[in-house]
Amino acid sequence: MSFPVIRPRRLRATPTLREMVRETQLTPQDFIYPMFAVHGEAVRRPVQSMPGVYQLSVDQLVYEALECHALGIPAVILFGVPAHKDALGSENFSDDGIVHQSVRAIKAALPQMIVIADLCMCEYTDHGHCGVVRDGQIDNDATLEILGRAAVSYARAGADIVAPSGMMDGMVAAIRRALDEANFLNVSILSYAIKYASAFYGPFREAAEGAPKFGDRKTHQMDPANAREALRELELDIEEGADMVMVKPALPYLDIVHRVRQATHLPVAAYNVSGEYAMVKAAAANAWLDERAVVLEVLTSIKRAGADLILTYHAKDAARWLA
Ligand code: PBG
Repeated sequence: MSFPVIRPRRLRATPTLREMVRETQLTPQDFIYPMFAVHGEAVRRPVQSMPGVYQLSVDQLVYEALECHALGIPAVILFGVPAHKDALGSENFSDDGIVHQSVRAIKAALPQMIVIADLCMCEYTDHGHCGVVRDGQIDNDATLEILGRAAVSYARAGADIVAPSGMMDGMVAAIRRALDEANFLNVSILSYAIKYASAFYGPFREAAEGAPKFGDRKTHQMDPANAREALRELELDIEEGADMVMVKPALPYLDIVHRVRQATHLPVAAYNVSGEYAMVKAAAANAWLDERAVVLEVLTSIKRAGADLILTYHAKDAARWLA
């Protein structure tokens, strides 16, 4: 049986009917809001390539976290701009690091807010790479030790979740071991399991001041052309003990989000990265796109593809639009 008996348009006839048969419901609970922490007080320094995003001092971060909470956003992820950069990125594992201070302040003001500490070293190292550099190369295994120390220091500050984003082999196992040895059995690991060597991170590198001073990240981040390899990275991170896995970026990799969703029972996150945000904001500023409609379409698409959680700079706006 087919047309004229069958007419899919019947169920699209009114807003109520469309809502009744809608398959994907986007809610503020799906969002994780990324923020950039800087030293100082009352600092709100705009990031040029990301309108609406700021480098924030601790007092301002707390204010933003309260706003997220009021909007129904359950979690924030923090990136730090350190006072000093050095070869090992030592502010990333110092109890007085800017993200450590931020975690403590947010948890003190709002204990129910889930605070995620990103572990990557590139913002903290003077060379801008995601690991220990020896003879111009990243030393994978030496980096693991530092990631373990950073994870424990963030756990001590009160972070609920640590998120290794450096794509080092063995990072999840090393971090789990370090956390467990320090008795942080309940601190979770959200692994950037599948992170591509993407050109969409450009604006983030301005926001976090973490661009590599030489070379690129292609020896650790994945080749954008590969999909089977994503499943291999996924399997390894599950074996190593990841509690949640992330695909990054999101929009150019929705096929990967979908495959990962089908391949695991773990919660899946997708990162709607800085370049995806900047494209929408630039087009909207020119009135070339309807920002609200496009943002909600983008975020709904990421959820439809299979993401349970979406890291997005649009989180606060989207939460307001969904209210
Ligand atoms: C650090 C890191 C990056 C992003 C998150 N963590 C940049 C990079 O790998 O170069 C990008 C996030 C974004 O673009 O919004 N490794």
